[in-house]
Amino acid sequence: KNVSTGFKDGFLWGGATAANQIEGAFNLDGKGITTAEVVKKAEDRSNSMAMNEVTREMLDEAIADPSDTHYPKRRGNDFYHRYQEDIKLMADMGFKAFRMSIAWSRIFPNGDDAQPNEAGLAFYDRVFDECAKYDIEPVVTLSHYEMPIALTIKQNGWASRDTIAAFTKYTETVFNRYQHKVKYWMTFNEINAGTWGFNATGALEDGLSADEKMQLHYQSLHHQFVASAIAVQQLHAIDPDAQIGCMLARMQNYPNTPNPVDVLETQKQDELNLFFTDVQVRGEYPEFMNRYFAEHHVVIDMADGDEELLREGTVDYLSFSYYMSMVASADPDFEKTSGNLTFGGKNPYLESSDWGWQIDPVGLRITLNEFWNRYHVPLFVVENGLGAQDVIAEDGHIHDDYRIDYLRQHIIQMKEAVKDGVDLMGYTTWGPIDLISAGTSEMSKRYGFVYVDQDDSGNGTLDRMPKDSFYWYKQVIASNGAEL
Ligand code: BG6
Repeated sequence: KNVSTGFKDGFLWGGATAANQIEGAFNLDGKGITTAEVVKKAEDRSNSMAMNEVTREMLDEAIADPSDTHYPKRRGNDFYHRYQEDIKLMADMGFKAFRMSIAWSRIFPNGDDAQPNEAGLAFYDRVFDECAKYDIEPVVTLSHYEMPIALTIKQNGWASRDTIAAFTKYTETVFNRYQHKVKYWMTFNEINAGTWGFNATGALEDGLSADEKMQLHYQSLHHQFVASAIAVQQLHAIDPDAQIGCMLARMQNYPNTPNPVDVLETQKQDELNLFFTDVQVRGEYPEFMNRYFAEHHVVIDMADGDEELLREGTVDYLSFSYYMSMVASADPDFEKTSGNLTFGGKNPYLESSDWGWQIDPVGLRITLNEFWNRYHVPLFVVENGLGAQDVIAEDGHIHDDYRIDYLRQHIIQMKEAVKDGVDLMGYTTWGPIDLISAGTSEMSKRYGFVYVDQDDSGNGTLDRMPKDSFYWYKQVIASNGAEL
């Protein structure tokens, strides 16, 4: 089978999730509230940045409200209570890998408590043990778009250097605890999202100017880079057999025209995206950022030893999410698409999802080749998928051929990239069991192979039901990508 597809033996087929989008049980068993759980559902569903729009006033209002009514990420899809059923469904599809994240606040409710919360640690033991029953490898993100809200209140999240010590105490705790259960880790989900704000930095930005916000973002990111480098070194010391990666939301840019100024702008946009993996894979800030920082009055406060930490804490593999591509233009009046996460330009050759994300399977092949040529480290596609509104047909089933088609096209391009020579470890599609959207907190933006009976207001039985794509993906995995 492998000969025909090119995917290696042990290719990590599976699905990807995040604690705050699935678990629920936001205040059970000693868990502290997180930054994700103070975010309300977006009023405008095309606003994928709604997750960042938290002000001090909104935070105070959220903290005072102990219910989950207005905060969908407090509910998730109830994985906390249904993990056995869900992992069984993944096993039925033949999953080799389950990407999930640990909620830091289940382990350290305030982020920097003296002792970890045993009930939180025990929960993830149960999840990993359940995976082991079916030979599913957990692929664990240490920080996926959340942190204990206590650290926002105490020290404005990642804006504070003190958060590095809190985080690395947490990482050391979970590495020690799960060293015999988890072989694949990654540090920060979509680390570049730190340039978008609160959702990834945990830092409030009330009253800051554009330049001040930029300063806050890049300083917070520096702290995350250092924390990530320390975590890499901790893991290598604790469990030399385990591997740890970085994670980027890759935004491939194309020039709007062959006009060299558009090509240059494209290169600049790409550099701003690849900066993150340059630091985490190569171990140092790339030169091109010096000019960018100077032009935007950003001064990175580096402590003695930071550069050495970055050099010595480079990752074992590079993982990334891929949903869309961008178009860049030097023309300031160039039309932007509001749907794309970072507001790139419209591409007339591509169709968009109902949320305006431009669908570009060939871009995945381009991305894989660019990454491989730039870094020569193993690559892992840890998110890809189509957010769509599913309808239960008269026969009681969900015929999501649009989702099958999207995934098929992307897997075809992944296969081409492997033939091109790219070293690819695996593919975990986003949201294998319907979950809460990160950007808008909707439930109705569904990615799953399995339908979850819950609406945007939290009504529903939470029952699980396989969609047509469930059976399709099962056959893809069973044939190691031959039968698409
Ligand atoms: C990625 C995130 O940006 O995209 C996930 O890592 C997220 O957490 C996914 O869910 C899809 O985005 P959304 O906004 O449709 O949930």
